[in-house]
Amino acid sequence: MKFFLDSAKLDEIDKAYKCYGIDGVTTNPRHIMNSGKPFLTAINDIANWVKENHLEGKEVFPVSVEINPHLDNADDMVKEARKISAICENFVIKIPCNLEGLKAAKRLEEEGIRTNVTLVFSPSQAIQAGRINAKFVSPFIGWKETNGEDARAYMETISNIYHVKGYETEIIAAAVRTGREISIMAELDVDIVTCGLAVLEDSFTHPYTKHGLGIFCDSWDKTEGN
Ligand code: E4P
Repeated sequence: MKFFLDSAKLDEIDKAYKCYGIDGVTTNPRHIMNSGKPFLTAINDIANWVKENHLEGKEVFPVSVEINPHLDNADDMVKEARKISAICENFVIKIPCNLEGLKAAKRLEEEGIRTNVTLVFSPSQAIQAGRINAKFVSPFIGWKETNGEDARAYMETISNIYHVKGYETEIIAAAVRTGREISIMAELDVDIVTCGLAVLEDSFTHPYTKHGLGIFCDSWDKTEGN
């Protein structure tokens, strides 16, 4: 299972790549806002970071960038996607999973611009992303859990449908909030998990590890000769 970082902050991207070897990045308008930079500055900075780290390439280190969420027709979405995509070959264009968005994503994939169909909350939406051969589909599991829904059953359904139908679209479990969700996604053989840096770091932290180290330090110190 690959790990993407869900962030537009360069320091977080740099740390996650250099310390933990993440495989890509996902952003959204909220992450761009949290970076404290205007949209174009934020994405150009990420493009430059990609270059500096010799990660340029369509298949190397995908960076998902979302189009202006106010756009409500396929023609405008396609135009904006083309502009964003021209900035960096690693960019994958995030398109909302609605009627106009799916029309736009289909056209973009046909012209070789990769898409990430986002804001997906039902298996039937995920099916459409697979049918149009989107590069990625992003079901938001954290938002489902917050709404009291069962993210495991939801992702199991999507994953089964994709296997049965042979869709090549890669599934990104998005808005992942806990280590438990990460392990469930791995168990379900989901392709990719995307989460924030704090969630990623929390997922390999356990209070018993700290507790155990305390016990071992104590024993070490009491051992004769140390
Ligand atoms: C995924 O691609 C989205 O950017 C993300 O997971 C959205 O959720 P969040 O910002 O609530 O984590």
